[in-house]
Amino acid sequence: MTRLLFSAPPADWPVWRPHLARACAVRGLAVEIVDAADPATVDYVAYSPEGGLADFAPFTRLRVVLSLWVGVETIVGNDTIAVPLCRMVDPGLRAGMVEWVAGHVLRHHLGTDAHVLGQDGVWRHDVVPPLARDRRVGVVGLGELGLACALALKGLGFDVAGWSRRPKPDAPVPSHSGEAGLATLLARSEIIVLLLPATPATERLIDADRLASIRPGAVLINPGRGALIDDEALLAALDAGRLAHATLDVFREEPLPPSHRFWSHPRVTVTPHIASATRPESAADVVAENIRRGEAGLPFLHEVDRKHGY
Ligand SMILES: NC(=O)c1ccc[n+]([C@@H]2O[C@H](COP(=O)([O-])OP(=O)(O)OC[C@H]3O[C@@H](n4cnc5c(N)ncnc54)[C@H](OP(=O)(O)O)[C@@H]3O)[C@@H](O)[C@H]2O)c1
Repeated sequence: MTRLLFSAPPADWPVWRPHLARACAVRGLAVEIVDAADPATVDYVAYSPEGGLADFAPFTRLRVVLSLWVGVETIVGNDTIAVPLCRMVDPGLRAGMVEWVAGHVLRHHLGTDAHVLGQDGVWRHDVVPPLARDRRVGVVGLGELGLACALALKGLGFDVAGWSRRPKPDAPVPSHSGEAGLATLLARSEIIVLLLPATPATERLIDADRLASIRPGAVLINPGRGALIDDEALLAALDAGRLAHATLDVFREEPLPPSHRFWSHPRVTVTPHIASATRPESAADVVAENIRRGEAGLPFLHEVDRKHGY
């Protein structure tokens, strides 16, 4: 019988099991779903980096590794994986990211902190927030999540442009690529959202030079990965007031150590990697759909380009 090994923290197993069982059943898949097995008897692995599985060599019957996470930086270089690796593209996760990004963009756009944090009895009736159409937002990374966020922000009226590795002439927002394209995007944007994967090419993309090319007074929002940013250069830009604020959800070291300056910096908002998460109720269908495709001999969905690392 076809066997799916769920490799994730033990607490996730009772949560995921019924969703995986339902998603397989509705597809007519006869799959035994287990949280432990002899590796030589496993056809599919649903993989979380927190499950502790590192050596795939004994999985001699394996067809594919199905990541439960979007970000695959911790597994993409695993040389023991000799089969396709697929990442998670989950509608529930995407919806969560759109809501988190929209919320934090609106916070900075509307200047809500001044009212939420500064109630002092003074009636500042003369400061009215601008309209979204007069606010330029840059989305760095126009993949599954970046594009969804760009579209939602555009729907709210924001003047949105984006950046990606490959040119996207048909993108629904003005899109840039290449070094010159990034410089253009950073110089134009008042609010910048980072939704790139962590790869060798994106490591410290936001360094001192690129921070210097960001429009003065801009806000940086990073729900992508901590490795995208040179932390010291970011702190220097914030200290100098060049950057008005950084809202950071992801960090080089997680949990972010209590002593880290980000926690106490007046221009930094820290959220604990909660921008979005894989939702088992929708993500189980993504796993099951790829099993269906494997059983039918069809190409897998969302296969990672291991050369580019995402
Ligand atoms: N904070 C959270 O809770 C959370 C949750 C989920 C995911 N994430 C992060 O979000 C990231 C993005 O997810 P996704 O599903 O949108 O990924 P995706 O669909 O793979 O899209 C990645 C985007 O980044 C672009 N890109 C990659 N390398 C680049 C480079 N060197 N230069 C320029 N652009 C580059 C890609 O360009 P092309 O379009 O040309 O390929 C694509 O537009 C994930 O990798 C993960 O790190 C965070």
